[in-house]
Amino acid sequence: MQDILEQLEHRRNIARLGGGQTRIDSQHKKGKLTARERIEILLDEGSFEEFDMFVDHKCVDFGMADKKIPGDGVVTGWGTINGRIVYIFAKDFTVFGGSLSETHAKKIQKVQDMALRNRAPIIGLFDAGGARIQEGVAALGGYGEVFKRNVDASGVIPQISVIMGPCAGGDVYSPAMTDFIFMVKDTSYMFVTGPDVVKTVTNEEVTAEELGGASVHAVKSSIVDAAFENDVETLLQIRRFIDFLPANNMEEAPNFPAKDNIERVDNALDTLIPDNPNQPYDMKELINKVIDDADFFEIQAAHAQNIITGFGRVEGKTTGFIANQPMALAGVLDSNASRKAARFIRFCDCFNIPIVTFIDVPGFLPGTDQEYGGLIKHGAKLLFAYAEATVPKISVITRKAYGGAYDVMSSKHIGGDINYAWPSAEIAVMGAKGAVEIIFRKDIGDDEKIAAHTKDYEDRFCSPFVAAERGYIDDVIMPHSTRKRIAHALNLLRKKQIEQPWRKHDNIPL
Ligand code: HXC
Repeated sequence: MQDILEQLEHRRNIARLGGGQTRIDSQHKKGKLTARERIEILLDEGSFEEFDMFVDHKCVDFGMADKKIPGDGVVTGWGTINGRIVYIFAKDFTVFGGSLSETHAKKIQKVQDMALRNRAPIIGLFDAGGARIQEGVAALGGYGEVFKRNVDASGVIPQISVIMGPCAGGDVYSPAMTDFIFMVKDTSYMFVTGPDVVKTVTNEEVTAEELGGASVHAVKSSIVDAAFENDVETLLQIRRFIDFLPANNMEEAPNFPAKDNIERVDNALDTLIPDNPNQPYDMKELINKVIDDADFFEIQAAHAQNIITGFGRVEGKTTGFIANQPMALAGVLDSNASRKAARFIRFCDCFNIPIVTFIDVPGFLPGTDQEYGGLIKHGAKLLFAYAEATVPKISVITRKAYGGAYDVMSSKHIGGDINYAWPSAEIAVMGAKGAVEIIFRKDIGDDEKIAAHTKDYEDRFCSPFVAAERGYIDDVIMPHSTRKRIAHALNLLRKKQIEQPWRKHDNIPL
């Protein structure tokens, strides 16, 4: 018996070595951890249960029959993060560059199926070159099966992808269909085809970083939701992130009893809005003062900074925050900001996370650049996402809410449940200057008349009270009481239910 046990341990040790010590050393030299080291950090100590450690590929072409490595380039299983179950697969770059064979795909499909059946989140750690070239269509078929499962699980369980090395082909398309993608700076890349193929096909010379580093995807393309300094920091942030999420679409996110009193008032908020209406202020200050212990997990912080999206907690419960940021482009809505916020809203709505919106928006960004880029359709995504979301929706207008952007940003008219405004709010079709120049065009040149019209307009419209008189704003609140009022509103709406007519699904303007 002892022999058999030793044989098992021997086989396990071989499997644990993956592509061998030389390749492990090379992985370390690049500043990357191995698949197993990553799992150790991500999961609670000792909680990992591995599946399919001895699976190998069945390929016999291109001399592959002699090159079999147990586990076949992906480590799969389940474990816990702060005591909650997650399913996991981690690509092992030391084995054929983590590429996906038919059997490697089956291992991933098994954990995908189990995660969906048992309604727990699934996390993929990617460090891989896509479909295994030697396997041809068998690998492509394997990816197809993975993609289909990504879609079947979408909106049922959270799916999280972490890019931790050079990733190509299916190893970027599968992440692209998951809810969130995180990335490690400087050591990880995402591209459909790598720099060598780009050079061959288009003659363009580009580095991996320029083509698909975090500086591209977390800033320009918006493919990535956050990028971190190294493997360890990234994995620790994923642990923190998972704590904000429910296990599935039928459950609530875990409650973290807050030490931070919900009745807490913050007098500094009474002076957050500068006297000069054109002077910016940092909307993140408001978010941090409203949430529990200023613990905010920002999504897409480096992309479309004119809108802020992220998760915080109020009274221990996860809440999604969306806020115009006056510090960037005066908080205007453009195509990127609209897409960013729309996707965030849809995630919150899938997973029962209430949405709080802070509004200071001068409108949609005018110009050919935006119009040619499809601002109408992208803006419509945001409008559509807010209107279709059935989770509790609470908003606070802090300063400007002009034009269409007033309607779009969680207004009462598109289903906002509780709509508050600060006394500094200005709700109007546009700012006073623009408005007067249009409706009193004949008086342009007569400075006295224009000044009088401007004052009239400001007195009448540049306040929250016209909207409050109509009931579009439920109350004009003191800035210092914002946390308390939001906490009360969230409690009021906990059991919100909305009946809707049957339909297969809606048709958001993609
Ligand atoms: C088989 C692969 C492989 C692959 C890498 N390797 N990619 N083996 N199939 N797809 C192997 C290499 O041969 C090498 O083996 C080891 O992994 C490390 O690769 P390197 O090239 O030395 O590493 P690096 O220079 O860091 O470059 C990593 C890379 C590059 C950027 C990922 O390897 C690359 O471009 N690979 C091909 C990517 C690709 O085009 N894949 C197919 C996509 S199609 P040794 O033995 O030397 O260690 C696809 C279809 C899905 O995925 C459908 C999408 C809709």
